Amino acid sequence: MLDMPATETSDMPKPSTSTRTPAATLMDVDRIVLTGFMGSGKSTLGPLLAEQLGWRFLDLDSEIERRDGRIVARIFAENGEPYFRKLEAEALASLLGRRRIVLALGGGAPEELGNRLLLEQTPRTAIVYLAAPFEALVARCLEQPGAAERPVLADLSAAERRFKARRRLYERIAGHTIETAKLNVEQTAAMVLKGLAKQQL
Ligand code: S3P
Repeated sequence: MLDMPATETSDMPKPSTSTRTPAATLMDVDRIVLTGFMGSGKSTLGPLLAEQLGWRFLDLDSEIERRDGRIVARIFAENGEPYFRKLEAEALASLLGRRRIVLALGGGAPEELGNRLLLEQTPRTAIVYLAAPFEALVARCLEQPGAAERPVLADLSAAERRFKARRRLYERIAGHTIETAKLNVEQTAAMVLKGLAKQQL
């Protein structure tokens, strides 16, 4: 999380808001981590934000798939969820060492205490929670190709229980929560950058 800005006093020259560009304030941040349930838009927003910042977009699920050589659904099917979580924790620890990245987490990554501690303790890391109602998230997931391959969506009432349990974890680790239901991806990106400019993340 970012340090709060030093308190400004009346005799200090105040920077004009127009000069406080995201690029300037990003001197305080090495990485932006996007968290939220499946369908929250992490993998859509991430590349756009990265492009706007001139940073690299990384996706935790893609990194797991790259390292393991199998898609996530297959890892779940063949080795079970605990094995997937182990791979996820290893991939997260490795990616958090990189700078100038926008990183999209998988929806379940913050469930693991070790992952939460690592995220919280990695300096210069802005964590943003993309929040939306469960129904909106499911609708978005079902619109996307490969919906049938999301193991966590196979049982909708179990998915809703996970969603309810995870919400407080997302909120706890994030420095900033954005309600995305009524925003498009450009508006969401603008909100993230505005939050950074105000050093609210
Ligand atoms: C999961 C979410 C998925 C993926 C895996 C498990 C979850 O990522 O990590 O299928 O537990 O919610 P996305 O949130 O990117 O879909």
